[in-house]
Amino acid sequence: MSEVVVKMEGISKSFAGIKALDHVQIELCKGEVHALMGENGAGKSTLMKIMTGVYTKDEGFMYLRDEINGEMRQIEIKSPLMAQKLGLSMVFQELNLLENMNIGENIFIGREPVGTATMIDKKVLNEKAKKELEKVKLDINPSTSVSSLSCGQKQCVEIAKALSFDARVVVFDEPTASLSETESRTLFEIIRELRNKGVCIVYISHRMEEVFELSDRITVFRNGTYIDTVETSKVSEADLIKMMIGRDLEEGKKKGSAYINKQKTVLSVRNVTIFPNSSPISFELHEKEILGFFGLVGAGRTELSRAIFGIDPIGEGEIYIQGSKVHINCPRDAMDVGIGLVPEDRKGLGLILGMSIKDNMLLSKLGQLKSRILNKKVLKEITGTYIDDLGIVLRDENQEVKELSGGNQQKVVIAKWLAMTPDILILDEPTRGIDVGAKSEIYTLMRKLTEAGKSIIMISSEMAEIQKVSDRVIVMHEGNITGELSIEEATKNSIMQAAFGGIKA
Ligand SMILES: Nc1ncnc2c1ncn2[C@@H]1O[C@H](COP(=O)(O)OP(=O)(O)OP(=O)(O)O)[C@@H](O)[C@H]1O
Ligand SMILES: [Mg+2]
Repeated sequence: MSEVVVKMEGISKSFAGIKALDHVQIELCKGEVHALMGENGAGKSTLMKIMTGVYTKDEGFMYLRDEINGEMRQIEIKSPLMAQKLGLSMVFQELNLLENMNIGENIFIGREPVGTATMIDKKVLNEKAKKELEKVKLDINPSTSVSSLSCGQKQCVEIAKALSFDARVVVFDEPTASLSETESRTLFEIIRELRNKGVCIVYISHRMEEVFELSDRITVFRNGTYIDTVETSKVSEADLIKMMIGRDLEEGKKKGSAYINKQKTVLSVRNVTIFPNSSPISFELHEKEILGFFGLVGAGRTELSRAIFGIDPIGEGEIYIQGSKVHINCPRDAMDVGIGLVPEDRKGLGLILGMSIKDNMLLSKLGQLKSRILNKKVLKEITGTYIDDLGIVLRDENQEVKELSGGNQQKVVIAKWLAMTPDILILDEPTRGIDVGAKSEIYTLMRKLTEAGKSIIMISSEMAEIQKVSDRVIVMHEGNITGELSIEEATKNSIMQAAFGGIKA
């Protein structure tokens, strides 16, 4: 094993009296990809935020190898800036860019190049930013406003910013959650280049495939405690799951599409055009069906869901619910005809971070209740059920959502829509950032919903998820439908072929 760069031991941290970390440890080496794994709320982000100066620890010690004399030196990280100067950088799970500033300004915020008369030298800033963007292979003008970027592009800017510090350790917290397949590939290349240069990468992810592909070692946390550190090549996926959840994973109920009511079309989308130059698309969703939508970046799946839900206009197209034509001009209209949407961008569309967990969950429900007088007991039952079913880790339901771990925030978004019990539920990347245990809980819940008569559209970029959960798969490419596959036909090859534009439907 190569040289240790950072060592943390006996680290504890509590929030409002609740222990998020209980005497945990980690050792990070030069030139390794070190995966950090564990269920939602296990304390992964918290430990890394302590290392990078965002939070202060309550207990424990941190040591950093001195670059000059090579000795391990105890250190107290007092601020993010101090961490960055020492070469400890982090790409956060939730995007943190300032929307009203441009890309270059975001990358160099607080350390802008100064020209004459202490004015920021915009030209130099742009040139420097361009170089940083090249490193992450993002070909966009640095003076572009961040607000006009896609989720994936924003993530790339965050990464460029983290790398711009010449880091010795770079933490990626769920980086691929908002990246497309192609963007993820680029990120993996960047990570391998960094590792070859001797940088240590901490890679936090719930995606097993990525962890096995990329990492050299894996540290597992469970419930705020340290479980073990193992070499990736010496551990199986099943062992790892057991370390994370403390038991074997029960395989979710096998798919049985026999009960789908193919005679009954609940939603029919006709001639909706996604992009100005794409052909109009049409498809139908049957009662009790889970219809999977797969595609690469820019395939238009999110745009399609936004059109159906009334966020964006549908132009010439038509939407029929249970055979009758409906006019959906805004999300309220969509909700009125029984459509719910769990959006891809949970921070922007899904949650009000400053509001409590309970209020967030009941947000969409409240509009539905006939009486304005709320029956506290009924409401409590609703929130309680979903908190239990989804296993949301929280202190109490009146806590603000922003205090929850990333994966638990996502579960609140899902609970919010489940509480509304829409007939048609559109889930856009429903398990992004969600741990293996909870993923299978969500699949089981989706199954339960369809068995109870609901219908689901699931948009996912995870091949394994599409194959495991869908009853039928529609593949999109550049705004067109390029494949419609029964679950038997939906092999990895046929799906990918269609995703690259292969067959036109
Ligand atoms: N600012 C905060 N205020 C209160 N509680 C917090 C805060 N930050 C984290 N916690 C709590 O600490 C625990 C650990 O959270 P953390 O975000 O580290 O989990 P995680 O392992 O990163 O999970 P995920 O996989 O969902 O991102 C959780 O119970 C969380 O609710
Ligand atoms: Mg986290």
